[in-house]
Amino acid sequence: MMLHTRLCDLLEVEFPILNAPMGGGDAPAELAAAVSEAGGLGLIGGTTREGATWLVSQIRRARDLTDRPFGVGFISHLPGAADLMAVALDEGVRVIAHSFADPTPFVGPAHDAGALVLCQVRTVDDARHAATAGVDVVTAQGTEAGGHTGRVSTLPLVPAVVDAVAPIPVIAAGGIADGRGVAAALMLGAEGVWLGTRFIATAESGVSDAYRARVIASSADDTVLTDVFDVATGMPWPDGVSGRAIVNQFSERWHGREDALRVWAGEHRDEYLALASDEEIDNRPVWAGEATSFVTRVEPAAEVVARLAAEAAQVLSNRPGDLLRK
Ligand SMILES: Cc1cc2nc3c(=O)[nH]c(=O)nc-3n(C[C@H](O)[C@H](O)[C@H](O)COP(=O)(O)O)c2cc1C
Repeated sequence: MMLHTRLCDLLEVEFPILNAPMGGGDAPAELAAAVSEAGGLGLIGGTTREGATWLVSQIRRARDLTDRPFGVGFISHLPGAADLMAVALDEGVRVIAHSFADPTPFVGPAHDAGALVLCQVRTVDDARHAATAGVDVVTAQGTEAGGHTGRVSTLPLVPAVVDAVAPIPVIAAGGIADGRGVAAALMLGAEGVWLGTRFIATAESGVSDAYRARVIASSADDTVLTDVFDVATGMPWPDGVSGRAIVNQFSERWHGREDALRVWAGEHRDEYLALASDEEIDNRPVWAGEATSFVTRVEPAAEVVARLAAEAAQVLSNRPGDLLRK
């Protein structure tokens, strides 16, 4: 018995499992290629400070590492997202993911190039809007998610989005890190899963060993949904979006004192931005979601994909028989 959904046919993959396109270099070519090689769909996080040059090098590197399909995802409310998408399309990428912006302007150029468009949303209204804009797949992201996310939990969000955008396939994101979570998401009507926190603690992610170790040592109640890191960096996000990270010295100091932080950031932003992001896990954000409870060791990404697919297939074949009586 093997997991299979319509999404597998659409994306031309074996398993309906994707890694999140984590920006800032967190989801580099190595991660995307490993996920694709293992039968999922790898997504490169295409938004970094290095811009187009980095993106081209990553796409080419992923192509060296795998012959299978992979995609690129963007933080699409930031200036330059359309140009970066054009770079990816020029490089022959045929799966493009957008998040945090109205996808309307991106859909036409992507479809003209023969690419599929995935769009991550956090509300049912945004899901409906994405469907109207013509996206091919909607990712419903619950508040449990690591990184920037909304306020509604995965459990109520996913089925509502499934109903709102049918027959467009929906991917569930937020709080999924083992086969039970995958099976549950499919029971809610999702046709695939998109995981960030589980994949950040793989050998192929772009974060430091200290970051991986912090994720592994943490559990769900160690995370906080906060604006403090965005206030410190001065990076804007749409209304209703905050970042979920593991509590650290910086969030302990400023969460709930955002007005004072704004004043502090006015004087110290350059200093803050100059902190080496890799090693400063007490001050820089350690983005991770509530699924961190299930992330207890660093694994190769391929093992994560294989394990999730096998566990989910087992849960889906055993549980109904365990639960139902004639
Ligand atoms: C380290 C990290 C970085 C992320 N960066 C991005 C990003 O650049 N763009 C994006 O759309 N989502 C980003 N996300 C959110 C993911 O797309 C996804 O919704 C989330 O990881 C799913 O929940 P999970 O962390 O419980 O698996 C990030 C998540 C993490 C953990």
